[in-house]
Order: sequence, then structure tokens, then C-alpha cells
Amino acid sequence: MSPTKTAPALRLAGRMARLGTETAFEVLVRARALEAQGKDVVHLEIGEPDFDTPANIVEAAVTALRGGYTHYGPSAGLPDLRKAIAEYTGSTRQISVSPDEVVVVPGGKPIIFYTMLALIEAGDEVIYPNPGFPIYESMINYVGGKAVPIPLREELDFRFDMKELASLITDKTRLLILNSPQNPTGGVLSKADIEQIAAIIGDRNIMILSDEIYDRLIFEGEPFSIASLPGFKDRTIILNGFSKTWAMTGWRMGYGVMRPDLAAHIARLMTNSNSCTASFSQMAGIEAIKGDQSAVGVMCREFMKRRDLFYERINRVKGFSCLKPKGAFYMFPNIKKTGWQAKPLADALLEQAGVAALAGTSFGEYGEGYLRFSVATSVENINKAIDRIEAWVGKNL
Ligand SMILES: Cc1ncc(COP(=O)(O)O)c(C=O)c1O
Repeated sequence: MSPTKTAPALRLAGRMARLGTETAFEVLVRARALEAQGKDVVHLEIGEPDFDTPANIVEAAVTALRGGYTHYGPSAGLPDLRKAIAEYTGSTRQISVSPDEVVVVPGGKPIIFYTMLALIEAGDEVIYPNPGFPIYESMINYVGGKAVPIPLREELDFRFDMKELASLITDKTRLLILNSPQNPTGGVLSKADIEQIAAIIGDRNIMILSDEIYDRLIFEGEPFSIASLPGFKDRTIILNGFSKTWAMTGWRMGYGVMRPDLAAHIARLMTNSNSCTASFSQMAGIEAIKGDQSAVGVMCREFMKRRDLFYERINRVKGFSCLKPKGAFYMFPNIKKTGWQAKPLADALLEQAGVAALAGTSFGEYGEGYLRFSVATSVENINKAIDRIEAWVGKNL
């Protein structure tokens, strides 16, 4: 047989057509390509702290590596870390959590992936915030569920319209996704909001995926978890992680807290996919939770200062108006008065002004009319970005 000159047709599984993406990574690649051509780009697209991981956490990992934590560990996580997470989650949410309710995974994202795989059958409805973290919608569609968006509206401070939520619940609703503080709007659900959501769900057998990954990056009010309300712990999967709070995005460390029978199935998904989370990363995770917390406060105060700067300046730019986010490190200005749609405006700012931001539509259809800027960058970069946006607006609007 003669060797084939062209590769055979790629026969992809049909489900791949339903898988979405996270645009931040694509914009980062485009921005880097522009930089390779010699252009200067201010990066406000990617959602990761610009701080280094605190030194005590790095030291714990180095010690663990030297101490032989280079092997497989249990799929659900190292017992000491599960215990530390159980205590931490229990004390911060005023609930009792045992280590067998904790599954450690490589980052927050796998909890979204595994929750969908474990709970959602074809046709099951999942209500999720829109605009919202794009992986929710992507994964709902991937597993064959029906994605039911609940729009987050600026008029309501990007919180839920409770009447609308009630109207979206049907007999097929299997899962509700909450995310507070929220990506991309920086909105925070108050305790009263969460109590109302709980009242709307009532005693229906609907599970809640509560994405609390920004729980320590909150500028006004206190974080509140629906798992803290009577009768809700057994219906809640708390998603949390180390990426944002302790600036550990590259370590791939996250976890889910859920009823033990579900935790056993999520651990089985881990066995089938990752085997386990890196053992030395987990040892560093114990230090992150139990060690000195001063770096968390320093980062949070710094993000707040940058939020205030961005807020003051962007609201003086023609065509832009922005609410003051209550948490996380994102700004989500309304750009409707520019007369531009979100995607072309984000493209123009990247290519013509050298400012990388994301179109609101990267977070779902209800993100049209908005851009997302990450302020997890220096004051100098924020000032440079807004100077450039102002200059671009001056020429083009
Ligand atoms: C709301 C939300 N959930 C989950 C994640 C995933 O975090 P990780 O990088 O730990 O997988 C992110 C990351 O941006 C996020 O914004």
C-alpha cells in the first residue's frame, strides 16, 4: 500500500459541536500574536491575580516536593487537605462539613465538568446566570442538557429578577447555578437574595451548584452561601478553589463540597480522568488554608483600589458607564451609548488601541452591550489602558 499523502478526514464525535470555550484564552493568544509583531498591548482580558503566590505557600510546595510528595494520591484528595477544607468551609459557612464531603480537583473548573456529567441527563434543564462564566453553558450543552439562562440585568445591580427565576423553574429543572461574587459583572447576591432564591426552590429536588470561587474577594457586605440555609446543604455543591484567593491559578487546585454519596461519584470521575490532583500542590493547599492569611487581605484591598480607579476613570469616557462591582476583580461597563456592539468594539480596542478586553457576549447573549475588563493588573496598566481608550474614543466616536 502506498502511504497516504493527506491526513484522513477527522471524524469528530457529534458532541464536540456542542462544546463552547472561554474566550479569554483566545483573546490572550491574539494579544500575544500582536505583541510578537512589536505592538504594545495592555492585558485586561484574563481573570487571574497579577500577584505571585504567597511565599509561605510556595515554600510548603518545595518542602513537599523534597519530601517525596511526587506520587499518586487518593482520587478525592489527601486526607489532611480534605480535613482542612471541611473545617474551613464549615466554619466560614456555619455548617458542619466532614472530610468525606470534600473532593479535591485540579482547579475550580473540573467541579463544573463533573457536576454536569454526574447529574444531567439529556433534556434536563439547568438554570444558569447570563452573562456568566462561559463554561457553565458550554458544559450544559455538552452533556445534552437544556441551558436555561437567567438574565442578569444592570438595572437590578446584576442580581436575579426573582419573578423571572420563579417563571423559569419547571418539572425538568435539575440544577440551578449560582455564582457570587460574580464573573463577569462583579455582582454579589445578598443574604436576602439567597433566602428568596431558596424560598422559590422550596422543597423541590433541584440541586444547586454554588460557585463561590471569589468568596474572599468581596468589597461590600459578607459572602453568603445557600448551603448555610436549613435544608439546603444536601442540595448544594459548593465550588471553591485556590486560584483566585491565594493567586494559585497555575497550581490547578480546586474543590467541591457536597453530600458524601455524590462526593463518591465525583471522586470516581476523578479516578477516570485525572487520577488525582498533584500531591505537592495539595500540600501547598493545606498551607494556603491554615497558614498566614495576610496576603489575602493585601490582595483584596489592592483589587478594591484598582476597582475604584477604573470606576472613576471609565465613567468619564464618552459612551461608557459602569456600576461599581461589589466583589471579584472585573469591571463590566455598559458600552451601548458608543453605538458599537461588544465584539467589534473589543476587537477594535485590541487592534487599534492596544487594550485587550473581552466582549460581554463572551459570557452569553445577555452580555451584549458590555465589555469585561479584568483589573487584576497594576494601577499603571489601568491608567495606560484608559488613556488609550480615551484617545481611541476621541478619534472614533
Ligand atoms: C466563576 C468562576 N468559576 C470557576 C473558575 C475556574 O477557576 P480555576 O482556574 O480554578 O479552574 C473561574 C475562573 O476564572 C471563574 O471565574
